[in-house]
Formats: sequence, C-alpha cells, structure tokens
Amino acid sequence: MTTATLPLVWRGRSGRTYMPFGGGRPRYGVASVVRRVTGEAGAVGTSTVEGGVPLALKLWNEGDEHALDQLQEQARVLVELSSSEEELPCPRLYDLVGTPLVTGLVMEWCPVDLELWWREKLGEPDAFGRLMATMAEVCRRVSDYHVFHAKRSGLEAGHGGLKPSNILMADDGRWLLSDFGRPQVAAPDDSPWASSRIIVGSENFVAPELLFHADQPYPAALDTWSLVASCFALLQLRRLILDDGVVPRNGTRSPRFRMHRIHQVVEVYSADPTRFRGQPLDLEAFPDPLELPEQDRKAIRDAVRGIFPTGQEKSEEAIYEQLLQLFDHGMSIDPAHRFTSARDLAAAFEGLTRRYLELTTLQDHKRPAAPKQPGPEVHEIQRLQRLAASATAKSESLERELADTRAELQALRAAIATPAAPPPPPPPSTFNRLLQAAVVSVLLVNLLLLGVGTAGAVFFFASQQ
Ligand SMILES: Nc1ncnc2c1ncn2[C@@H]1O[C@H](COP(=O)(O)OP(=O)(O)O)[C@@H](O)[C@H]1O
Ligand SMILES: [Mg+2]
Repeated sequence: MTTATLPLVWRGRSGRTYMPFGGGRPRYGVASVVRRVTGEAGAVGTSTVEGGVPLALKLWNEGDEHALDQLQEQARVLVELSSSEEELPCPRLYDLVGTPLVTGLVMEWCPVDLELWWREKLGEPDAFGRLMATMAEVCRRVSDYHVFHAKRSGLEAGHGGLKPSNILMADDGRWLLSDFGRPQVAAPDDSPWASSRIIVGSENFVAPELLFHADQPYPAALDTWSLVASCFALLQLRRLILDDGVVPRNGTRSPRFRMHRIHQVVEVYSADPTRFRGQPLDLEAFPDPLELPEQDRKAIRDAVRGIFPTGQEKSEEAIYEQLLQLFDHGMSIDPAHRFTSARDLAAAFEGLTRRYLELTTLQDHKRPAAPKQPGPEVHEIQRLQRLAASATAKSESLERELADTRAELQALRAAIATPAAPPPPPPPSTFNRLLQAAVVSVLLVNLLLLGVGTAGAVFFFASQQ
C-alpha cells in the first residue's frame, strides 16, 4: 500500500507559501536543514522577492530543544540586521515560519558555503593565493559585523559560531555570515555528562573561552580563533584530496580536520568542564599556550607542499614561515595574544596573498621568457615550409619505392628469361639415407637368397639327372 506523501509547502508569517524549487538535495546542518524553495505568486509583505527566485528555507530539526532556542536567537538577530538598508554581513531575511515559536527562516539563497567553494577551487594552480584572498575578504565581513553590532548595541560582540558552513557566498559573489545569535555551546554544568555534551559539529572551530564559558575580554578574538581554525581545516582538506585521501562524510566538521591545539583544549575541558566558568582562562592549564604544538606546525608545512610549481621549495618555505606566524598568533590560548580584531587578521591574510603573488610573479620573471610569438606571416611561411618538407619527404619515399619496384621487376624478368636450373635436390635426410640403406640391404639379401635358391635348384636337378 503506497503512503501518500504530503506536498511540501510552508506558510510564512507574511501569509505567503513556499514550495521546493529546482530539485537539489537539502543541506543538512548540525541543528537544522536548509532547503531551496521559492515563494508562490508575487511578493507579500516582508517577502519582497518575486516568485521563481530561489530562497533558502532553514527548518528546525524537530525534537532538538537546544536547536529551537538557537533558531529563536538567529531569527531575532536576522530580523534586527535585515531591518537596515545597508549592505548586510548576512543573507537577507525575507520571512519567518511558525507561530508562536519560529520553526523556519526564509532567507536569501546562497549557492555555496566556504567549504563547497574551496572543494571546487583547491585543485587550481593558484589555489593557495585564492584561499588567502578569500580569508581576508571573510575577515573584513566579520569585522563589518562587529562594527555593526557595536554601533547598534554599543556592546562588542563576537559571532561565536564561525565555521566553513556558516560562511556563505551570495549570488553576486559577496561572502556572508550565517547563524548569528547565542553561541552554540551549552553551559558546562557539573553533571557528569557535561564533558561529553560539548557542541557536536563545531568543536573544530570553537574558542576555548567560549567552550569553558570563561571571561571573554576580547569578543572579536572568539571569531579570529574560529577563522584561523577554519583556514587550517581547509588547508588540510586540500592536502587530503590532492593526496587522493577519502573525505569524511561530515567534511571539515570531522575531527580529522581538527588542530592539535584544539585537541589540547578539549582534553583540559573533558578533565573539568566547569574549571574556568565565569573566570579568566588559566594559561598554565594548557600545554605550550603561546606556541603552536609541533603536530600543527608539521601539518601546516605539509599543507603548503606544492602550492608553487616544482623546484620552488624556497618560496614554499617563505610562505610556510609567514603562515606559521599567523597560526601561532591566531591560535594562542590567551585571547590577548590572539588577533583581537578581525581587521588585523584580514591584514595578515592580505599580507600572505601579496607574498604569494609576489613569489609567483618573481618565479614567472626568473623563468626564461617564453620565445616571442612569431607574427602571422611567419606562421604562414612556417606552414608552407612544413608542407614543402613533407612533400619532399613524400617524393623521396616514393622514389625509394620506385627503385625497389624496378629492382623487383628486373629480378622477375631475369627469372622468366633463364628458367633457373632446377635446384639440386636437397641432400637426402638421415632418415632417407637409412631407409635407402635398408632397402638396398633387403634387395641384396633377396638377391643372395635368389642366387642361393637358383644354385640349389640347379644342383638338385643336376643331381637328379
Ligand atoms: N542562506 C543559505 N543559502 C544556502 N545554503 C545555506 C544557507 N544557510 C545555510 N546554508 C547551508 O545549509 C547547510 C546547513 O546549515 P546549518 O543548518 O546552518 O548547519 P551548520 O551547522 O552546518 O552551519 C550548510 O551547508 C550551509 O552552508
Ligand atoms: Mg550554519
């Protein structure tokens, strides 16, 4: 018995209905799923886009209370952000689904997120330069959000949940941030499960002071930590794919892409989640708080392998050194030692982009200048020369063939004129010789017998006489 599937239609608070648009699989997140939809008929209320324009409908994963709280928070921030006419640092919100609680957000559709974009680009020769330039652009966007928030509320605030899937590219190529609102870290309580209930899906990117709900003296440093950790995961993803490795299903959310630095933080957290709650982080609690662990240094060195054409290890080393400085600074446990403004981090990524371009251009100049491209007339002459050469070669091979044919003809004529003496019979083979001998001896024996017989007969008859 077939079960009837209800048509997928959602009604927004504007009164407009939305239905799935243009196929494509839903995009599953940690706490929600995002579908591509479009609005029925024309614009209604806040839902100002025409019918047939793709929109993103983010729906709450039913049953997850924590996710529902988060969605309320995201809706609150997006409503606030979208009320301004300025260019927004996030996808524009068009409608809300669900009353009294929000169970869905209708937003601007973004074709890719940072991870999807990078998967398409990481194989390009200048991939590293593109990533550094993009990270700089994203940092500027985060800084815009920080400024926007500070202007609005007079308070500094961090996003707190930055990761590759929350950095989206709009249709016009602008990078946008999504999932604003209260960070997704449940407050550590002293229940025995606290350590295991960290934050599924974002451990690779969450700043230590957020994890411990410790003091956050530099809100922007929460986000610069997440951005540097995101850059690490993307560089590892490139390494894995270029080395033909298998990419885990949950992509950069997988522990496979987690820095050793973050393993260290999670270890301290698992030992006692409430240790720094509401107080400053104690750096002593962490192994080498100001220096990146050796494992991460090696991973970064390995990640930049091959970002330049072969034979340019020196340039690679130069980029590695500069990248290491950024990571050392960006992943310091002490927020005061980190990038405390997204603008500073943007500048560090810009510096790396420039250095990369400089080194690539330098190499281009060093490389012997490609021979000047000959003009069209030279092309024509060369073409005719090639034709002439092949014609000569052709006539030469024809001449050779003719000479061979002539020689063959002569041989044939000679053969016809003096029929060749029949070839001497081949020497009898051993077998023939033996056979011949056998035949001869048999003959001899017979002859002998015949002689003897005759003589006997003669003697007998004679004796009868
Ligand atoms: N406005 C949007 N347009 C298109 N895709 C989006 C939009 N917002 C989020 N997504 C994508 O949907 C997926 C799920 O997002 P989300 O529910 O926020 O989970 P996550 O925790 O992975 O960020 C992610 O891959 C994200 O890139
Ligand atoms: Mg998200």
